[in-house]
Amino acid sequence: MSRRRMIYEGKAKILYEGPEPGTLIQYFKDDATAFNAEKKAVLDGKGVLNNRISEFIMTRLGAVGIPNHFIKRINMREQLIRKVEIIPLEVIVRNVAAGTMSKRLGIAEGETLPRAIVEFCYKKDELGDPLVSEEHIAAFGWASPQELDDIISLALRINDFMSGLFAAVGIRLVDFKLEFGRHFEGDMVRTILADEISPDSCRLWDLVTNEKLDKDRFRRDLGGVTEAYAEVARRLGIIKESAQGGEVVDFSSAGK
Ligand SMILES: Nc1ncnc2c1ncn2[C@@H]1O[C@H](COP(=O)(O)OP(=O)(O)OP(=O)(O)O)[C@@H](O)[C@H]1O
Ligand SMILES: [Mg+2]
Repeated sequence: MSRRRMIYEGKAKILYEGPEPGTLIQYFKDDATAFNAEKKAVLDGKGVLNNRISEFIMTRLGAVGIPNHFIKRINMREQLIRKVEIIPLEVIVRNVAAGTMSKRLGIAEGETLPRAIVEFCYKKDELGDPLVSEEHIAAFGWASPQELDDIISLALRINDFMSGLFAAVGIRLVDFKLEFGRHFEGDMVRTILADEISPDSCRLWDLVTNEKLDKDRFRRDLGGVTEAYAEVARRLGIIKESAQGGEVVDFSSAGK
C-alpha cells in the first residue's frame, strides 16, 4: 500500500488526495489559531467535533438544496469531499454585531443588525484577509458577476436555514464565514459551498445567557473551548449525553 498524497496543510485542516479523481479527503486537526496565526494552541478533540458538526450542517444544507462539497464522513477526523477550485473570498454573513464589525463601525457587540449583512474578505494570509467590496471582486476578477450573484443568494439561504437550525436548540447564530468553490462537472462549472461550518467559523451564543459557544472562547482566553464545541454538538443531537450527564464522544480512533 502506498502512502496517500498530501495536497495542502492549512492551519486547521489537511487535504489529501481522494480515492477517486475529483475527490479529496479533509482531515480535521486539533490545532487552533487566531489573529492571523499569531495565537496558537492544540485543543484536544476539537478536530473530531468540527468534523462531526460540519458533516451535520453540510448534510442538512444539502437536503434543502444548497450544493456543497461534502460526500461522506470516513472516520472521526476525516471526510470525503468534492474537490473544487476555491474562490479566494471569505464570505461573512452577520446577523448581530460582533468582532471586527463592532470594532470597525463602533457598534456594540450583541446589537442586532437591521438586516443580514454579507461581507467579503480577500483570502490572502500575508495581507491578513482584508475586507473588500464587490467592486474589487469584479475589477480584479476574483469571481465573475454570475458567481458573485450565486454566492450572495446561497449565503443568505444558508443564513436563513442555519439561523433556524440553531434557534431550535437555543443558540443565536451571530455571524459566520463561508468559502465557495468552482466544481467542474464535465463542461459545466457550478458554484458550491466548500470548507467547513463549525464553531471555528461561526459565532454561536446561547439564546438565554449569551454565553459564547465558539472560537471566541479561544480568541478571548475564556477557557472551556472544546467543552463549548461539545455543547453545540450535544444540542444538535450529534453526540449523546451519558448517564453521568457528561458527553459521550468516542475518541477511540481519534488519533488517526
Ligand atoms: N472542497 C475543497 N476543495 C479544495 N480545497 C478546499 C475545499 N474545501 C476547503 N478547501 C481549502 O482547504 C484548506 C483547508 O485548510 P485550513 O482551513 O486549515 O486552511 P487555512 O489555514 O484556513 O488556510 P487558507 O488561508 O488556505 O484557508 C483551505 O485552504 C480551504 O480553502
Ligand atoms: Mg480555513
